[in-house]
Amino acid sequence: MTDRLNGKRIMITGAAQGIGLAIAQACANEGASLFLIDLDAGLLETEAKALQAGGAAIGYTVASITDITAISAAVERAATEIGPINAMINNAGVNVFHEPLETSDEEWQRCFDINLKGAWNCTKAVLPGIIAQGGGAILNIASTHAFTIIPKTFPYPLAKHALLGMTRSLGLEYAGKGVRVNALAPGYVSTQKVIDYWNSFPDPEAARAETMKLHPGGRIATPEEIALAAVFMISDECPFMNATCLKIDGGLSVQQHP
Ligand SMILES: NC(=O)c1ccc[n+]([C@@H]2O[C@H](COP(=O)([O-])OP(=O)(O)OC[C@H]3O[C@@H](n4cnc5c(N)ncnc54)[C@H](O)[C@@H]3O)[C@@H](O)[C@H]2O)c1
Repeated sequence: MTDRLNGKRIMITGAAQGIGLAIAQACANEGASLFLIDLDAGLLETEAKALQAGGAAIGYTVASITDITAISAAVERAATEIGPINAMINNAGVNVFHEPLETSDEEWQRCFDINLKGAWNCTKAVLPGIIAQGGGAILNIASTHAFTIIPKTFPYPLAKHALLGMTRSLGLEYAGKGVRVNALAPGYVSTQKVIDYWNSFPDPEAARAETMKLHPGGRIATPEEIALAAVFMISDECPFMNATCLKIDGGLSVQQHP
């Protein structure tokens, strides 16, 4: 355990597995206190208890980021359990992948409710407290889908483009109050979400191999590799980094097709 995040009291959403869990583990290792939110009660409790057993100050609650009342209550509970939140990592998100004309209104709404409005709900709930403390950091987990489009993944990339817009907008609005708002854009990361994506193809193994082949290094990222960047961006090691986005995709998105 080191102390790069000593004094940070970070709320992390979607923290029970995948990238959110790896970020929580890395932040705890760097001395942060954490308040974890997820919909999956069983996984959340198991992982939060494991982190507590490792010596970290951890609070947690089961809530949906779409439920602003529950999120506001979580922020209050966090203040009691670990102290007032001074950093927020908006990580929870879901794949909503369709052919555009086959996208139902319900799927469109679900996509934007979770991937965009959910991040705003959490940000809105923590921002007044962060400003009152003289500043802090917000990190939105976007995606390379915030820059480019994979056909038939509609409307997920639209929500990630908008999340990047929100990052820029809030970064400008609150810079004068000491708040940094940034985004991190992973490419493919080995989580359940990506396994589910491969499983949506008739030949999942061929889909997996095709993804690996697209990457200059022949592999995709681990959640831990994304967490390394998240720790840096939420720490005080980049005080002038604001309203920007860091891509971590192993070079995938700069490769031109031959
Ligand atoms: N895995 C990738 O390749 C990849 C790439 C780029 C960006 N991302 C983004 O990273 C983030 C995490 O992705 P992941 O792959 O770790 O996903 P994951 O599916 O492995 O984990 C997501 C977690 O979020 C929780 N969650 C979902 N909806 C929620 C809600 N409404 N309220 C609270 N919690 C909720 C789930 O229960 C789950 O534990 C997402 O925003 C995703 O869009 C992932």
